[in-house]
Amino acid sequence: MSVQIIVGAQWGDEGKGKIVDHLSENVDIVARYQGGANAGHTVVIPSKNGKNEQEFVLHLIPSGIFHRHVTCVIGNGVVLDPVALMAEIEQLHRIGIRTEGRLLISHHAHLIMPYHKMLDSVREKGDQKIGTTGRGIGPAYIDKYMRTGIRVVDLLDRDVLCKKLKRNLEQNNELLSKMYNSQELDVDSIISEYQEFDKKVDEYVTDTSAYLNEAIRKKKKILAEGAQGALLDVDHGTYPFVTSSSPTSGGACTGLGIPPTTVDSIIGVVKAYSTRVGNGPFPTELNDETGNRLREFGGEYGATTGRPRRCGWLDLVSLRYSCHVNGIEKIAITKLDVLDNFSEIKVCIGYKRNGKQLTQFPTDVQTLEAVQPIYRFFAGWEAPTSGVRKYRDLPTNARKYIEAVTRVLDTKVWMVSVGARRDQTLIVR
Ligand code: IMP
Repeated sequence: MSVQIIVGAQWGDEGKGKIVDHLSENVDIVARYQGGANAGHTVVIPSKNGKNEQEFVLHLIPSGIFHRHVTCVIGNGVVLDPVALMAEIEQLHRIGIRTEGRLLISHHAHLIMPYHKMLDSVREKGDQKIGTTGRGIGPAYIDKYMRTGIRVVDLLDRDVLCKKLKRNLEQNNELLSKMYNSQELDVDSIISEYQEFDKKVDEYVTDTSAYLNEAIRKKKKILAEGAQGALLDVDHGTYPFVTSSSPTSGGACTGLGIPPTTVDSIIGVVKAYSTRVGNGPFPTELNDETGNRLREFGGEYGATTGRPRRCGWLDLVSLRYSCHVNGIEKIAITKLDVLDNFSEIKVCIGYKRNGKQLTQFPTDVQTLEAVQPIYRFFAGWEAPTSGVRKYRDLPTNARKYIEAVTRVLDTKVWMVSVGARRDQTLIVR
């Protein structure tokens, strides 16, 4: 068995990029299994001269790309935006990171088409606004499940591509032309654009499921990188305020075409507090000065959209649920340093509704919107942690905080991150 899965345990933006980058040192392959360019995985790498840091935001390409020995896979569960992919490849080339021979794209990944992005914003004008990233993710997955989607493999055959595109445009043009001042989408120009893309990506496209299964047989080490977070999972998240794919660990097997029996371990990435972008219930949200401080200290602005993230205290009710749904055995706690300046830190240990305590995490939004968090108070450590390099050197109150969290979650803490840089990483033995 050789597969490790990294999942976001909250609503995304937990800092998975840094954790995957760290783990990539000791793996052969990093594979993204779902989502699309809605994700923003930030990795801070030393510059060529080793003196400065460079921040790099990846949307599609797995965060292992910065390690030259790693092969990166974009699996069949991902929805692929050609424009975003090419921009990312070019950006990597500009900083001297090679993608040729190191990046593989599933021929079964579905393509984001221009009308998907337009439909995403049309739907967001309706009365059930999700607060999507506007990257066409939902509409692309709708087509996938309607069985009208266009896959990477379809680029190979112009006739198939034309036929599918014409049908999809006929279905969508009426709605789109109403919303976009009668400006109809043109089949020929879309075909040319996508065939141009085909020429550029051709060398990367392959049967990635076959590749991964062969790698597993050869005992290669594989890291499956999830995007977003468990509470945004289309099945297990706070539906309908979710993304359209399965960020939970189960999604890794379907999104990569590998058997569950090959999975060794599942690591949950947990931010030391909570954030959420977009709409939907968020029991521990702080619409006050404390929330603003978390946002400012944590730089909590969307890596993809720049939107300010909603901020609040850590929520152990939803996290316990997340650990169960994902099978998380160990966690990486990120952004601990953001809490350095708080004299008091709260953690939600239960919910109350109509005077009664709830024992389970309710995923129906009506209940979740009505619950009141029950908090446990922790004394802050009020000391900088970003320079700490050993877990035992963390302030006592910081260790108390972490240990209380892991006790409630019944997991082990494996790593604590105290800053965006690679060296700001404490491994807990
Ligand atoms: P979509 O994935 O763009 O359809 O957006 C659906 C919901 O998921 C919205 O609330 C988005 O803000 C949220 N979302 C999508 N991608 C991310 C992410 O990478 N981090 C955090 N939230 C996300």
